[in-house]
Amino acid sequence: MYSEKVMDHFMNPRNVGEIEDASGVGTVGNAKCGDIMKVYLKIDEGIITDAKFKTFGCGAAVATSSMATELVIGKTIEEALKITNRSVAEALDGLPPVKMHCSLLAEESLHAALWDYAKKNNITIEGLEEPVADVHEHDHDHEEGSGCCNA
Ligand code: FES
Repeated sequence: MYSEKVMDHFMNPRNVGEIEDASGVGTVGNAKCGDIMKVYLKIDEGIITDAKFKTFGCGAAVATSSMATELVIGKTIEEALKITNRSVAEALDGLPPVKMHCSLLAEESLHAALWDYAKKNNITIEGLEEPVADVHEHDHDHEEGSGCCNA
């Protein structure tokens, strides 16, 4: 079901944790399953020098966020904006179609962290739209402990 790369990033996620003096922090919820992702970015002179994440999400969410933080470190803000859930999934050699929605957490939390950075520094980032909401309200369409949000 999962590629080797997905399994590797799920079993050994990179960049888990938080950055205390982060330049921008973004928290989003996945409207489809209710899982939550938080991304921290350290930005120096327009370059993303560090990225960390924490999640209450499934294996695909962990793997895509791990890959997204790897991809974003060393990038300019403009380059970081080009990282989409599809490009992250491609870098992981694909995700099962039913798990594509999980990869949205990585993209949206990255954008939310950039938005937070822009707001704190009173700047506008071309092409970046305001996150719809920090954490979406959601209806859990499954019973607690049903395993839906597990790998
Ligand atoms: Fe919730 Fe994957 S992020 S099931």
